[in-house]
Amino acid sequence: MKKIIFILILAFLGLQIFTTEQAGAPDLPQQLSLASYSVSSGDLVLVNRDIALQDEPDNLASIPADIAENVIVNSEYFLEEQAIAPLKQLFDAAAEDGIEHFIINSAYRSGKLQEQLFEQYGADYSLPAGYSEHQTGLSIDIGSTMGKMENVAEGKWMEDNASEFGYILRYPENKVDITGIEYEPWHFRYIGLPHSVMMKQHDFVLEEYIAYLKEKQFYKMKLDDTTYFVHYTGNKTSVNTLESNYIKVSGDNVGGYIITSVLEQL
Ligand code: DAL
Ligand code: ZN
Repeated sequence: MKKIIFILILAFLGLQIFTTEQAGAPDLPQQLSLASYSVSSGDLVLVNRDIALQDEPDNLASIPADIAENVIVNSEYFLEEQAIAPLKQLFDAAAEDGIEHFIINSAYRSGKLQEQLFEQYGADYSLPAGYSEHQTGLSIDIGSTMGKMENVAEGKWMEDNASEFGYILRYPENKVDITGIEYEPWHFRYIGLPHSVMMKQHDFVLEEYIAYLKEKQFYKMKLDDTTYFVHYTGNKTSVNTLESNYIKVSGDNVGGYIITSVLEQL
């Protein structure tokens, strides 16, 4: 009997920890104008071999050469500015776990550079100019000086932990049929919180996550001390959403917006 009660308590605690999503249509009292946002730009844009990039990045910043001691940055690379602080947090967290040998091999690419790479590497590992998410300034190729990412601690750590910092492994081994790109254990894409965590929990790639958002429309997620509300809407000039002092809007590049609000930060 004691054993059963113990198991029930564990199950209850497990539910408290893992049931971070909530469904249902909440009251949406705040009207938010979408007029100044583009459905084709933001952290969640979907870009792949069928969906072209529409808007060039407008907020590129240089990745600091000294971003972290466990990283070699041997050339000047650029990312959208909002992706850089989480990248530093990620490398610092890896260093704390004893993961010491990263090297950055690529980040933002111009259309011209992408064209050259496509000619060099071909369609299994690269995309034609205009269809690569490297051109969004939200993707980065991270390698290891110890060997291939699929064989070394750096790759394993990134695959397990990048999502906590807003990054996702964009071309996983088990999703080649959806992404159309071979397994790339080095290519990470910034999409921000809580999206990266949600995708990791559901084993979604970005194509699947956007489809899921369209269908589900809302979810709420608590991560550490922050509660997020995520809200999907089609292309409109305004939308009603929850009241929040922090609201971020991203287009999905396929006709909709994703609105991410912070509800509570303790
Ligand atoms: N290597 C990735 C697929 C690109 O070229 O964007
Ligand atoms: Zn890449």
